[in-house]
Amino acid sequence: MDWGLKNRMSRIIRPATGRTVMLAVDHGYFLGPTSRLEEPRKTIEPLLSFADSLMLTRGVLRTSVDADTSTPMVLRVSGATSVIGPSLADEGITTPVKEALRLNVAAIALSIFVGTEHEHQTLMSLANLVSEGEEYGMPVLAVTAVGKELEKRDARFLSLCCRIAAELGAHLVKTYYCENFETVVRGCPVPLVIAGGPKLETELDALQLTHDAIQRGAIGVDMGRNIWQSDHPVAMIRAIRHIVHENGTPRQALELFNTLKGS
Ligand code: 5RP
Repeated sequence: MDWGLKNRMSRIIRPATGRTVMLAVDHGYFLGPTSRLEEPRKTIEPLLSFADSLMLTRGVLRTSVDADTSTPMVLRVSGATSVIGPSLADEGITTPVKEALRLNVAAIALSIFVGTEHEHQTLMSLANLVSEGEEYGMPVLAVTAVGKELEKRDARFLSLCCRIAAELGAHLVKTYYCENFETVVRGCPVPLVIAGGPKLETELDALQLTHDAIQRGAIGVDMGRNIWQSDHPVAMIRAIRHIVHENGTPRQALELFNTLKGS
């Protein structure tokens, strides 16, 4: 791996722990003004210093994050579909690598839609981005998207998606936690992070999910709604950090959450 690419990877994955807490705030790219992300700057600002990186689109980066931040950015470069359109899977590349370089981001991210009629186009986008990204030392994060079909989140399907992403050259893969998650990890030769998915019933549920994923081999989270849709988002991201970076148990993290939410 070239120095520039290694350096960018080390801005995303903390060298001290080999793990990462990425904060995903890219949801508006197909969902519009999602609940509690209506005004991105208001959601992002209190959380920014607790995130190892932020995952977002160029529009939200330019409008809602000050350029003097030291938090690394992971730029979503795929999209151009909407939740009310004919197919969420019909994504294209919306932002060129050149712009990612101009924005000085640490990595670029795109979704792949394996098993859909747009599988080939999204996988070719991944392959092409890896080739172009590697010319400039820019890592690529592949998101194994399931669209509206959340029931697709099982080990057989996710193993297939993650392995294909890695074979095409993704440097980091984002997927979902599922039963037998260790088989997904085993079959994927690059680091895996998990999304949180829709907001779970309780904070403890999200902390447990994070803990289980880390125990079974994920190197961290790229989490959104289970952090910023919490009534106490700062307490929540700090509790997640406790698990990811300090090997806290879900109960210890919940205690921390309860202490911090009052302060
Ligand atoms: C959508 C994404 C989101 O960033 C991802 O789903 C993470 O957010 P959440 O934890 O809310 O699921 O990549 O394709």
